[in-house]
Amino acid sequence: MAFDAPRFIARNVQAIPRSGIREFFDIVQGMPDVISLGVGEPDFVTPWHIREAAIYALERGRTSYTSNLGLMSLREAIAASVGRHFGVSYDPKRQILITVGVSEALDIALRAVVNPGDEVIYHEPCYVSYSPSIALTHGVAVAVSCRAEDGFAVRAAAIEQVVTPRSRVLVLNFPTNPTGGTLTRPELEAIAAVVLRHDLLVITDEIYSELTFEGEHVSLASLPGMAERTIFLHGFSKAYAMTGFRIGYACGPVELIEAMMKIHQYSMLCASIVSQEAALEAIRHGEPDTAAMREQYRLRRNFIVRAFNNLGLPCHLPRGSFYAFPCIRPAGLSSKEFAVRLLREEKVACVPGSAFGPAGEGYLRCCFATALDRIEVAVDRIGRFTQRLGVSPATAPALIGSPP
Ligand SMILES: Cc1ncc(COP(=O)(O)O)c(C=O)c1O
Repeated sequence: MAFDAPRFIARNVQAIPRSGIREFFDIVQGMPDVISLGVGEPDFVTPWHIREAAIYALERGRTSYTSNLGLMSLREAIAASVGRHFGVSYDPKRQILITVGVSEALDIALRAVVNPGDEVIYHEPCYVSYSPSIALTHGVAVAVSCRAEDGFAVRAAAIEQVVTPRSRVLVLNFPTNPTGGTLTRPELEAIAAVVLRHDLLVITDEIYSELTFEGEHVSLASLPGMAERTIFLHGFSKAYAMTGFRIGYACGPVELIEAMMKIHQYSMLCASIVSQEAALEAIRHGEPDTAAMREQYRLRRNFIVRAFNNLGLPCHLPRGSFYAFPCIRPAGLSSKEFAVRLLREEKVACVPGSAFGPAGEGYLRCCFATALDRIEVAVDRIGRFTQRLGVSPATAPALIGSPP
């Protein structure tokens, strides 16, 4: 009898789709002269002193495993940094776990706390891995839609509306991938009240927090009564342009970090020691690099948001992250049709909003972590494309938010 491989794939794995981003970028592969505003990754190379720290670690023969929790020196530096920037205090000995990116941290946080059938609430449009990661724990993903009119902030009342006796976890990500939405302190306080009322655990993904352009970034973990019920996730990929190092961390209540550590020790064992040494250098001395990159992203953001609005594609001002999320409804195409045709006809790669959940339909994610002169050419091409589709600024709805 022929071996039927698909029959051996677990049902919950069969049920999850491939990432909409990957699917789209398979088309981009091999196409010459494409300008990509697609993959969410800094165009900067990791700052030299951080790369040098990795090289120096290798030169010193730092090639071993580390403690499952990660290097103590790195955990101490993280505790100091999180205390200084987020106002939350964690014990480096028992409350911080170094992970293989925020990706692993999110996966093991969910696996540590979700039982089959538990409901996990998150806001949409959101990072592509949230819903599949919840499904892999046999949890039930419950999406709350965010709207452009609200600057893609999630409303406390909308969260409360979907709470049931099975609700267990709330996942937050601000600034948000793909919308650049942020939350103010009063908005977070309203969410904290819902969390307390319904005894929820929070997982907060803070990966874009350093890329906040206006206003203060506040973490839910810093509000009264929240640190003890929050798993705080952060990493080095975006703030320090270290995506390839695959390094991140989780902070939280001792018992939850211990539970996550059990999964981590049996699956990853530890994060790469070379990446941990590089991260240590980044967190100790990398702030000026982050500030310089943030300033570049701010200039690019102002340019691209203004350009989309001028083209007749209403685009709210993202106050954080490096993504613009213009509405492409005036073009009369679905977001996937728009993205595929834009790629074929004008060689600009952007991600259809629908890749980030049904709430993203009608939008396009354009990553502006690309050099300004490339963004200028991309915007010219997008303008040519939308003009052919009959979009003009005059037919566009009112502008939402405005660049400074
Ligand atoms: C919201 C969000 N969380 C997590 C990640 C993954 O980050 P890491 O590179 O630390 O695994 C990304 C990457 O794009 C992201 O956008």
